[in-house]
Amino acid sequence: MAGLLEFPKDFAWGAATAAYQIEGAWDEDGKGPSIWDVFCRVPGAIQNGDTGDVACDHYHRWREDVALMRELGLRAYRFSISWPRVLPEGKGKVNRPGLDFYDRLVDALLAAGIQPFITLYHWDLPQALQEEGGWPARDTARRFADYADVVSRRLGDRVHHWITLNEPWVAAYAGYGNGYHAPGIRNPLAAIQATHHFLLAHGLAVPILRGNGDAATRVGITLNLAPVHPASDRSADEDAARRYDGFLNRWFLDPLFHGRYPEDMLDLLGAALPDGYQGDMETIAAPVDFLGVNNYTRTVVADDPESPVVETREVKPHGRPYTEMGWEVYPEGLYEILTRVHRDYAPPSLYVTENGAAFADQVSADGRVHDPQRVDYLREYIAQAHRAVEEGVPLKGYFVWTLLDNFEWAYGYSKRFGIVYVDFATQERTIKDSGYWYREVIAENGVR
Ligand code: FCB
Repeated sequence: MAGLLEFPKDFAWGAATAAYQIEGAWDEDGKGPSIWDVFCRVPGAIQNGDTGDVACDHYHRWREDVALMRELGLRAYRFSISWPRVLPEGKGKVNRPGLDFYDRLVDALLAAGIQPFITLYHWDLPQALQEEGGWPARDTARRFADYADVVSRRLGDRVHHWITLNEPWVAAYAGYGNGYHAPGIRNPLAAIQATHHFLLAHGLAVPILRGNGDAATRVGITLNLAPVHPASDRSADEDAARRYDGFLNRWFLDPLFHGRYPEDMLDLLGAALPDGYQGDMETIAAPVDFLGVNNYTRTVVADDPESPVVETREVKPHGRPYTEMGWEVYPEGLYEILTRVHRDYAPPSLYVTENGAAFADQVSADGRVHDPQRVDYLREYIAQAHRAVEEGVPLKGYFVWTLLDNFEWAYGYSKRFGIVYVDFATQERTIKDSGYWYREVIAENGVR
């Protein structure tokens, strides 16, 4: 690639993390248990029996981690708040030390010249609320709005970017549909109800977050979006791709931006929606300031009448590069999804709130971590984001997933996504080559 692909002025170059994946301190200072604290104790749920009890110990090492971010030159940092650290029972009594932790972190970031982007829900529901039904229960949406109020009252004077939810599709289907994630429930109908309550929770929180902020406050949501391609040009596979796109992408985008579920998907899934769902659509479509897009790969599907829910099966194309997650490297997909969302839904602005890759990194004899595959991956995806910007997509920032190697959900510590290597035995951090490379990208405001 020749020359510098330069991004617009004030582009928010950042890194993203999530509370449960990095904080540890799972039961300290009054924190209540989350569904992940409980799920990790279920035998066989997590690879190697790993848990997030300690994770990157960020709860104690946050000063060092902010210093690392500063060293990398990050302009923005996306992190999530642990709901049960703030509200141990999910509702009612506020746990002051929990809120104080985030308050200090926000101040330290601002002092380092790093803009905080807060995600309110990155999958760690208070266990107490799961016991009352979790996301398939409507009341959880109301509780989320109350929690958003508590946090934004405290931080809304300094935090200007709020992301209500992270990837409701994953949280609903992995949590309640196939049970790969907490709370480990296997009930596709419950998953569909959960999707609706996630959307409702988002819609209820939007005006609250605005109300507790000021003229600079920007509110959005993060979805996992991916282009869906048919495995062949058979019409059955093309139909399968349309259905899967409806399930993964349009099921969330249409309600948020058009105030309705997609017709073709209502025919398939509508019967599972909670009664009276139509009355929530206006709330769900509360205008947002931005859409966060998490994208790692594309999805290729074939028709499969035996598969549950939308009768499709994922196919892994041969002869393509894959990351350690088994995810195809498909940089054009980022361009494709950004331009498509801009064309079909026109959110006022967009951020890539996650993009990155897991590879089997090691510390070399020279004490460094050489991760050329990650550098290539990031370079190619960022170049595709640039292509979207050139075509008029109002992309305002890019967050690499992730700052630190961390607890990768059901895979435990076996997958390393960080631009900083973590030795989990000593908690020593080592900036990888990709971290130094990213520092250059930020300094030059673009990739070469
Ligand atoms: C996304 C999650 C994030 C991380 C990456 C690899 O689905 O939002 O927490 O696990 O995948």
